[in-house]
Amino acid sequence: MIKIAPSILSADFADLRREIQRIDTADYVHVDVMDGMFVPNITIGAPVVKSLRPTTSLPLDVHLMIQQPIRYVEQFCDAGADIVTCHVESDSEENIHEALRLIHAKGKKAGVVIKPKTPASAVLPFIHEVELILVMTVEPGFGGQKFMADMMPKVQQVRSYIDAMNPTCELEVDGGVDPETCKICIASGANVLVAGSSVYGAPDIAQRIAALRG
Ligand code: DX5
Ligand code: ZN
Repeated sequence: MIKIAPSILSADFADLRREIQRIDTADYVHVDVMDGMFVPNITIGAPVVKSLRPTTSLPLDVHLMIQQPIRYVEQFCDAGADIVTCHVESDSEENIHEALRLIHAKGKKAGVVIKPKTPASAVLPFIHEVELILVMTVEPGFGGQKFMADMMPKVQQVRSYIDAMNPTCELEVDGGVDPETCKICIASGANVLVAGSSVYGAPDIAQRIAALRG
């Protein structure tokens, strides 16, 4: 089954309770956390996740685009995140292992993320420790960017690693996913699709979420 994770980065931040209720036919709520250092943009932090938690029964999929996420993963878990993902580029391999351990110690799901220039093989040191791997299909930092179709061989490669080594792990893609590009993502082996602008920009959100399922 294909899961859809709308990114609230494209929502109206002045009305997040309503914006989350508008995506209630989705599978996850994707929350983009940016620190202005790992990426050139600043978004939201753990206090906002805490306020959002009681507004939805959907799992909160928290994508940390921050340097040294080990410093903050426990705060996001305590705030109510269900899945917390860390970029492999954001700290030493040792500290990423430790961050994943801290997330699991809080009883939450943990994942790793790779940027467009990072090879598929960068997930291998973590593959037995994660419930989700996220392959970026844009440079992280902003919504509304153009889908990078040249990431599809990497998605296929990560799919083959998952099938061989950790078959229950989910494979997520993030960036530029719309009712056209979703098809090649699904064909390449992704099972969770993040979509920001194409969901919140749609005239009928429920219909758009259904369309993204392929
Ligand atoms: C980009 C974020 C994405 C972004 C996707 O750094 O990680 O989740 O919100 O937005 P769209 O779907 O508009 O590309
Ligand atoms: Zn994201």
